[in-house]
Amino acid sequence: MLPSDLDPGRIPDHIACVMDGNGRWAEQRNLPRTEGHTAGEQSLFEVLDAADRLGVGWFTVYAFSTENWRRPVDEVQFLLRFNEEILLGRQQELHERDIRIRFIGRRDRRVPRRLVRRMDEAAALTRDNTGLTFTIAFNYGGRAELVDAVQRIVDGGVKRVTEKTIARHLYDPEMPDPDLVIRTSGEYRISNFLLWELAYSELVFSDVLWPDFGRENLYEAIKEYQDRDRRYGGVGGPAGASDASGSDPADTA
Ligand code: IPE
Ligand code: IPE
Ligand code: MG
Repeated sequence: MLPSDLDPGRIPDHIACVMDGNGRWAEQRNLPRTEGHTAGEQSLFEVLDAADRLGVGWFTVYAFSTENWRRPVDEVQFLLRFNEEILLGRQQELHERDIRIRFIGRRDRRVPRRLVRRMDEAAALTRDNTGLTFTIAFNYGGRAELVDAVQRIVDGGVKRVTEKTIARHLYDPEMPDPDLVIRTSGEYRISNFLLWELAYSELVFSDVLWPDFGRENLYEAIKEYQDRDRRYGGVGGPAGASDASGSDPADTA
C-alpha cells in the first residue's frame, strides 16, 4: 500500500493543505468557478483518505479565508452552502473511520448560524474518536487568529507573555505545528494561513490545480518533505536525526 520510495518512519505527523486552483480549473473548462469547488471535493477526500492510510495524525485544510468574503456574493453563498453540504454528507463516514473533525476560524456574524451549528454537531459527533484529526480552517486568517489570541490574553489580565502563552490561546491549542504545508496551483504564497504555526514547517508547492490533485501528488509532496533537512536553526545532521532533535519553537519562550 505504501509507495516504496516513502520512508514509513518519517511520515509527517501534521500535514496542512492550501487547496487552491478550483476557479482556474473550472475556467479552463469554460465552466463557472463554482464547478471547480465541486470538483475539488473528491480531491479533498482522496487526499484525506491517503493521509489517513499513511498514518498521518493531523490533516488540516484551508477551506475559506477571512479574505474570501471579498469574492462575488454568489460564490461566497455557494461556498457557505457547499461546506455545509459536505459536512452533512461526509460526517458519518468520517466518524465511522474514527476521524475526529475540528474547526479553526473566526465565528463572526457573517458565518450563518446553521453552518455554525453543523460545525458544532460534526465536532461533537467525532470528538472522542482517536484516529486522524481532520481540521477545517473556515473563516480562518492567521492574523485574525493572533489578534483573537492577544485579545483573550489581554482580557485575562496576563502580565507576562511567552510563546507558550500565545500558543495556548490559538483556536486549537492541541493542534501541533504542521510538519508539511502543501499549496497547490502554482501560487507561492501563504495567504494568511497558520502564520504562527508554520514557523518551522516545510513548504511544498505544487503546480497541480486542486481538483486534479490526488494521492500520487500527496506522495510526491511527502517524498519532497522527506528529502529535506529540518534544522530548526541548528546545524543539522544525518537525515532524519534533525526531525527528532528539533525543538518546537514554541517551547523556547
Ligand atoms: C481555492 O480555489 C478554493 C477557495 C479559496 C475556497 P480558488 O477558488 O481560489 O481557485 P483560483 O485560485 O481562483 O483558481
Ligand atoms: C487561499 O487561497 C484560501 C483558501 C484556499 C481557502 P486564495 O485563492 O484565497 O488566496 P490568494 O487570493 O490567491 O492569495
Ligand atoms: Mg485561489
